[in-house]
Amino acid sequence: MKFFPKLILLASLCSSVVWAQSPFMAAASAAKSESQDVWWKHAVIYEIYPRSFQDSNGDGIGDLNGITERLDYLQSLGVDAIWLTPIYPSPQVDFGYDISDYEAIDPPYGTMADFDRLLAEAKKRNIRIIMDMVMNHTSDKHPWFIESKSSRNNPKRDWYVWRDGKGPGIPPNNWESVFGHTAWKYDPTTNQWYYHKFYAEQPDLNWRNPEVEKAMFGAVRFWLDRGVAGFRLDAIPTLFEDPQLRDARPVGGTNAYGDPILDDTYTDNLPEVHDVMRRLRALVASYPGNRVLIGETYLPNIQELDKWYGGASHNELNLPMDMQIGFTNKLDANLFRQRIQEVETKVHDNQPLIVFDNHDNIRSWNRYGDGVHDDEIARVLAAMLFTVRGTAMMYYGEELGMVTTPPARVEDVKDPIGKIGWPKEKGRDGERTPMQWSDSKDAGFSTAAATWLPVAPDYKTVNVQSEQADPNSMLNWYKKLIEMRRSNPALHDGSLIMLDKSNPNVLSYLRKAPAGSPSVIVSLNFTAQPQNVSLDLAGTGVAGNTVKTLLTDASALQSTTSLNHIELPPFASWIASVQ
Ligand code: NOJ
Repeated sequence: MKFFPKLILLASLCSSVVWAQSPFMAAASAAKSESQDVWWKHAVIYEIYPRSFQDSNGDGIGDLNGITERLDYLQSLGVDAIWLTPIYPSPQVDFGYDISDYEAIDPPYGTMADFDRLLAEAKKRNIRIIMDMVMNHTSDKHPWFIESKSSRNNPKRDWYVWRDGKGPGIPPNNWESVFGHTAWKYDPTTNQWYYHKFYAEQPDLNWRNPEVEKAMFGAVRFWLDRGVAGFRLDAIPTLFEDPQLRDARPVGGTNAYGDPILDDTYTDNLPEVHDVMRRLRALVASYPGNRVLIGETYLPNIQELDKWYGGASHNELNLPMDMQIGFTNKLDANLFRQRIQEVETKVHDNQPLIVFDNHDNIRSWNRYGDGVHDDEIARVLAAMLFTVRGTAMMYYGEELGMVTTPPARVEDVKDPIGKIGWPKEKGRDGERTPMQWSDSKDAGFSTAAATWLPVAPDYKTVNVQSEQADPNSMLNWYKKLIEMRRSNPALHDGSLIMLDKSNPNVLSYLRKAPAGSPSVIVSLNFTAQPQNVSLDLAGTGVAGNTVKTLLTDASALQSTTSLNHIELPPFASWIASVQ
């Protein structure tokens, strides 16, 4: 990772007997639908970077109407929800993560009427919209910060983190911005410094001031009232800082910006953030329709992840992102097995959210690819993403095999960190290039003479149009996997049991179906060599007498009918029903 170094008995009786609906029963089935069948547990969530998805008005920048035009595509892919990265008014220093108004749409993306139309059209296709909520910081052009900055006595002064320096030109402490160098900016008007975890144009809000929570929860309500399905909470572990501003301890080494690497105990993941999460969960849960709270949670271990769910109390985020699986950046069956097991067993039966790609990291194609078998590797990872027991999150273009295309020259860089850190850190432009729809001009993304970022050169072959026409394309592999995940009862609801647990090359698991349906076996060869596996179902409660291939990218595996001797070609995925 380059960016952030995170009444069962009653219910079963109900399903086998026809009961007259009593108030008690109604409550029980409501409990079931809340706890077991909520939509987001089975969902495929598709991240859209709106600037790069579809430009509808020829200005070279993607927009909301562009997304609406492409909803049929998303529906055909099998997407249940779209997460939109920020579309609010913003000076766009951090491409929307610097918000200057939380309750409006930035004009280059469209109008509020366009947003409402997108919401309504998506709903017709059973697609929900999830907003990005940036609560850690605002833009320095947000009226709150402009007021805060105006004088030490301004009522909004305490909405941000202001402190005296240690002396002339010396910041309050040694904390560093994620985006390089000191995290403090001096303001000559009031002779104090403000804290910014990210760019200096993104001052951190002071969450110790209750007014801040009130204002931010107001913005949350605004979008819930409009009908959004939930939020992805940006940089949420960074909400609080140590009130004593203790210096961070250097842990050795320097980062891409040449700064010493510091321990983040005083700036990340402070316990206070969990109180806010519980209140936010209560607010969101007071709305109907199982709205969802997703967290951008890069965390050091599974115990920390568990806390973001609220552990056994299940009262914080519904889906904090598990970055331990998708960002191992190593095609290692043992490691994946261990990480999947951890989220299966150590988060108090909360629901895993698995993610391999987003707008901040080199695409998984390049992180896992070996330069020779990139396509095969991408397929085997996709097979894992959609068949483990978890909510699946994907990033636009992943389904096509879009690759990271970083700028070749520093003068072409758009993402400021690419300028600060060049050439070690080239920024995040490479994973944000325009969606590749066709082989026509600008890949069908735009009709503009120049697009905000250049289209990747492989668009002539890697695009929706040509992949739709090719039954063996990556796009069709994704579609088949998503369709199977949706329709197969074992993949939909089954528990996960690891098989062949000491195999270092092949990851195999059983998705044990609810009684009455066949279970599913998944076997994934993570190596460039053929592998033979023999799968033993003893102790799983599944007999394994009848085996039938459901989906594979290796034709030799189509006719496999026994678990005793399975010959997996290099990087093959094999998914079979078993009973
Ligand atoms: C995480 C976002 O994903 C990233 O794009 C942004 O730069 C930082 N948070 C700051 O908001």
